[in-house]
Amino acid sequence: MNPNPTLSRRALLAGLAALPVAVSCSPAFAAEPLPRMTVTKDPSCGCCGAWVDHVRAAGFPVEVIESSEVPRLKVLLGVPREFASCHTAEVGGYVIEGHVPAEAIKRLLAERPQAKGLAVPGMPIGSPGMEVAGVEDDTYDVVLFGPGGRSTFARYRGARPV
Ligand code: CU
Ligand code: CU
Repeated sequence: MNPNPTLSRRALLAGLAALPVAVSCSPAFAAEPLPRMTVTKDPSCGCCGAWVDHVRAAGFPVEVIESSEVPRLKVLLGVPREFASCHTAEVGGYVIEGHVPAEAIKRLLAERPQAKGLAVPGMPIGSPGMEVAGVEDDTYDVVLFGPGGRSTFARYRGARPV
């Protein structure tokens, strides 16, 4: 007459096991984590390391690859020759060439324009990783580039947008 307690317990456990448990892993209000960034740099270049410190401080998890083949990587990734700087980074499906401020990268990842990536051509004084004490900061463009052409994505003076 009584229902079999062992059987119903087993059925209950089986039912629980089928429930998704992922909801308990992260609170709903947690900010979306920044995607992992891979930075390829020449081991003998110091400013690249300073830029890596800058993007890490901004919250990006960064993997650094030391390589003497950075120029070849730039070609493979489609960085226009005249935009070539020192290090080349890859994040969220985009290419980041040179001393691009982390805030510009975050905006890129939020807006997700159809483009290959961002570049700060050359090595402007005062760009992240290129700070020189006692020397006035350059004003420089952060360029959006890709098959659709090139445009100014942001303009900075030192570490600040202008
Ligand atoms: Cu550099
Ligand atoms: Cu460098």
